[in-house]
Amino acid sequence: MAAAVFPGSFDPVTTGHMDLIERAAAIFDRLVIGVLANSSKSPLCTIEERVQMLEGLTKDMQGIEVLSFDGLLADFIKKTGADTIVRGIRTPADFEYELPLAQANYKLNCKADTLFLATRPEYSYISSSAVKELARYKGNIEGFVPEAVYQFLKKKYNYPD
Ligand code: PNS
Repeated sequence: MAAAVFPGSFDPVTTGHMDLIERAAAIFDRLVIGVLANSSKSPLCTIEERVQMLEGLTKDMQGIEVLSFDGLLADFIKKTGADTIVRGIRTPADFEYELPLAQANYKLNCKADTLFLATRPEYSYISSSAVKELARYKGNIEGFVPEAVYQFLKKKYNYPD
């Protein structure tokens, strides 16, 4: 049974993340979405909110689990029994950042091979950090995040109607 982990901060989950989740779920029998608990000093969403949002968004999809983790990804992979890490690549800069991480993760855990999925062009400008910045200034995040996340953030950050 082929199992993979799709790790990230998901603060918040974006439409680009959802596209990658759907595509990775079609490749693997089991996909664990690993939500890093201590992702940032000033998170937009709590770890509970991020896990809950991902659970809601994936509830009708087969073979998906949402788990939070702390510490090293290489150790988390061991706990899940998965042997592949899935990461999305939006730009050449992403690849430069991700390649040494993939190599370090393999050094730390030889079961952890990384599979890079090229982000679809329509999502390549979307990032959680852009959404974070926009949400803090009540900028329009429609289309950057799934509808449920959009509604949640509008409420949490008191967007005007
Ligand atoms: O969504 P992000 O913030 O790009 O995800 C980054 C993540 C969670 C994949 C990365 O920060 C991570 O794996 N953190 C756990 C600590 C770790 O294992 N670091 C790599 C050391 S080689």
